[in-house]
Amino acid sequence: MMTSRLQRLFSTLRALHHDNPLGLPKRGEPPVMPRRGLPPRRSIPNVKKVVAVASGKGGVGKSTVAVNLAFSLAAHQRARVGVLDLDIFGPSIPKLLGLETGGEPHLTSSGALIPLTNHGIPAMSIGFLLPGADAPVTWRGLMVQKAVQQLLFDVDWRGADPTGPGLDILVIDMPPGTGDVPLSLGQLVNVDGTVIVSTPQDVSLADVRKGINAFQKLSIPIIGLVLNQSYFLCPTCKTPHELFGSSNSAKALGIELLGELPLIPGVSTGGDAGLPYAILNSRSNTDGVAGQLWREAMLAITERVWDVLHTEHGVP
Ligand SMILES: Nc1ncnc2c1ncn2[C@@H]1O[C@H](COP(=O)(O)OP(=O)(O)OP(=O)(O)O)[C@@H](O)[C@H]1O
Ligand SMILES: [Mg+2]
Repeated sequence: MMTSRLQRLFSTLRALHHDNPLGLPKRGEPPVMPRRGLPPRRSIPNVKKVVAVASGKGGVGKSTVAVNLAFSLAAHQRARVGVLDLDIFGPSIPKLLGLETGGEPHLTSSGALIPLTNHGIPAMSIGFLLPGADAPVTWRGLMVQKAVQQLLFDVDWRGADPTGPGLDILVIDMPPGTGDVPLSLGQLVNVDGTVIVSTPQDVSLADVRKGINAFQKLSIPIIGLVLNQSYFLCPTCKTPHELFGSSNSAKALGIELLGELPLIPGVSTGGDAGLPYAILNSRSNTDGVAGQLWREAMLAITERVWDVLHTEHGVP
């Protein structure tokens, strides 16, 4: 009894004696994962360029921006574009692309997954492989890494036709934060550029700054920042309401501002209905000035992403 109390006391004292109780170093460089022993980064089979859409923060519109960017690249640059959902714990792509009831992906003769397609965009998500829309993923790190690896390398982006051309661009929808998935992506794959998404709010930007630092440490190139839900234009007035603060703090992040997308109810209702706003808005703009501004900003973002991906040196 006494012995175990003493043991507990001594182990507590040992922990307090350290920089901090968890034993994590407070000063100097944080520990880095050694690359030695890891396989070299690979290209994704049948994909020419890879763009990740990411943020250190959750719920800021990464998945929404990812699907709309994919459509916009396909529509304006006549590119063959696909979407890969790397959000293992909270996959949104099946819903956003209206593929929730699309069934399970088929396999090629060599056992690769064939993407499901809607609105002309092929997509792959762990959500297609789960027993139901409400089935949770309760995996530890190693299982997550394995799933990420399979989604990156065991999908045939030529589809069911093995002589097909594959993709010009694969847009990857990243999960929030700086955990296992960005780490695996950075270690396994050559990423050509990353679009960072944030709302202008300080509480988002603080996490986004960490996300940017993580991507830079992993040598994943960053194309720039999309400020989403940047302002709201009510239908009866023309004044932009900056519900989440002004874009000034975002400009201090030190990366290029690619565009500011307004908050529009049609973006979220369209997403819930599996109809990305880029399609809705191109059919008919029922949101007036706000719809027009969203479209112009998305076009500018698309053109900049395309240009950066296709310049000789890639991300500046
Ligand atoms: N510009 C916008 N206008 C209106 N609603 C938006 C806009 N952008 C995103 N939304 C809505 O905000 C919510 C969060 O968006 P989304 O799921 O894309 O974020 P996320 O960053 O991918 O989240 P998570 O971190 O959980 O993956 C969704 O309901 C979406 O429809
Ligand atoms: Mg998401």
